[in-house]
Amino acid sequence: MNAAPRVRRKRSSTVARDLPRNAIFLVGFMGAGKTSVGRALGQRLNWIFEDLDDRIEAREGRTVAEIFRDSGESEFRRAEHSALLYVLKELQAGGARIVAVGGGAFVQKENAGLLRGSGLPTVFLDAPAEELWQRCCAQASDSGVARPLLRSIEEFRKLYETRRSDYSRAFLQIQTGNRTVETIAAEIAATLGLKEIAMRTEEGDVE
Ligand code: S3P
Repeated sequence: MNAAPRVRRKRSSTVARDLPRNAIFLVGFMGAGKTSVGRALGQRLNWIFEDLDDRIEAREGRTVAEIFRDSGESEFRRAEHSALLYVLKELQAGGARIVAVGGGAFVQKENAGLLRGSGLPTVFLDAPAEELWQRCCAQASDSGVARPLLRSIEEFRKLYETRRSDYSRAFLQIQTGNRTVETIAAEIAATLGLKEIAMRTEEGDVE
C-alpha cells in the first residue's frame, strides 16, 4: 500500500458539503477499475450503476470496438458526448446514479465542461501505468474483448501520461493500486458523504 495519501480532495470541505449528492462520475484511464468500483459502490449504496460505454453501444447498436473499427475514433467521441448529454439530462429529472465514463471521455474539453457545469462530483481513479496495463491485458485475456486503444505498452504509457493532468482536474483523486474494490468504494462513499437508499424505484429515486 502507498505511504502517500490515497485520497486527495481538490476543494475545501465546505464546497464538498454543497455538492449535489444524487450522482457521481468515475473517470480515469483504461484499467483504473471504474466499472468494478462503480458496481461495488452501487451495491453498497443501492444506487444504479451505469457504464457510459454500455449506453453508447445501446444507442448506436454496435460495440465500442465496432464503432472505432468502422467509423473511427472521432465518431466514437461524438457518440460518447451525445450519450453523456443524455445521461445528464436524465439525472436532472432525479434518481441516484454512479456513472463510469470511458478513459477518453473526461479528457474531451466539452465533456469535462458539461460535468463541471453539472456540479456533480467527479472521482479520478488512478494507478501506475504498468499496473493499468497489466489489468487491461488480464481483462482482455479473460473476456476475449480487447480495447481498441490497447496496443503496445509504450503507446499505452504515453497516452496515460498525456491524459493524466486532465484526469487530475476531477474533484477527488484516489489511488487504487493494491487495494480492493470494496475498500475503494467505501472510501468514496465516506469522503463524499454518499447515502444509502433504503428503497428505489426503477428510475433510482432517492428514498
Ligand atoms: C477509451 C477507453 C474505453 C472506451 C474506448 C476508448 C479511451 O473505456 O471508452 O475504448 O479513450 O481511453 P474504458 O476506460 O472503460 O476501457
